[in-house]
Amino acid sequence: MRVVILPSELEAGTFIANIIAEFISHKENAVLGLATGNSIVLTYQALIEQYKDGKISFKKVTTFNLDEYIGLESNCEQSYRYYMDNTLFNHLDINKKNTHIPECFNNEFKATCNNYESMINDYGGIDIQLLGIGTNGHIGFNEPTSSLASRTRVKTLAENTIQNNSRFFDETEIQPRLAITMGIGTIMEAKQIILVGLGKHKSQAIADAIEGPITSFCPGSILQQHDNVIVVIDEHAASKLKLYDYYINTEKMHQQYMC
Ligand code: GLP
Repeated sequence: MRVVILPSELEAGTFIANIIAEFISHKENAVLGLATGNSIVLTYQALIEQYKDGKISFKKVTTFNLDEYIGLESNCEQSYRYYMDNTLFNHLDINKKNTHIPECFNNEFKATCNNYESMINDYGGIDIQLLGIGTNGHIGFNEPTSSLASRTRVKTLAENTIQNNSRFFDETEIQPRLAITMGIGTIMEAKQIILVGLGKHKSQAIADAIEGPITSFCPGSILQQHDNVIVVIDEHAASKLKLYDYYINTEKMHQQYMC
């Protein structure tokens, strides 16, 4: 696992955007796995800037999002479709038909989930999967005790997740308690995974994911078993890492010899 600790949230976002920009400029028909949440917004803003500067194009890029709530219309401001359109897609030259989100409006959940898995396979799998992490260690909406081999399916949200995400819903709105999420097994099939964690409130989940035992109690810990993972964190999110100095030194070496 490559652990990159950066001084600020802005630098973390720029760092991730640069990796994606470099990748899509060289790979024809790149397939990106995308995440929602606050931590990834700076990455998306940096990508939009690069697109506006004429450095990159998303015309041939296909995307698959990690998850979506059940029970919200796509034009509902709290849906992940709305988030993705407004935070990223509407500002790029991407063809919306190439942007996939595991939405289900007809209660055909099993078919939707199976179809999502098949589509990812049909596109040749995900090249780079972006991930945030919940304060309880979840990735996508794979809550603690999710099977480490799980596939795209309906998940009941943990109370902690519902509380953390309640800031996006006002009192009159019904907050979903269910979501469709790529499974942990699905995520682990991505060729490369980049996880972002920002802020002190993520420090325990980050420490558990990087340095703790591999356990379904912290779904992010499964990334220790993937051979191409970059964890990009700011100093606050890194504050509980036991091997903090080692990661700083290793990254210095990486920049000196491998870049
Ligand atoms: C939601 C999403 C996750 C995301 C998490 C962290 O629960 N389903 O995919 O990683 O939020 O979000 P934030 O970056 O806002 O803390």
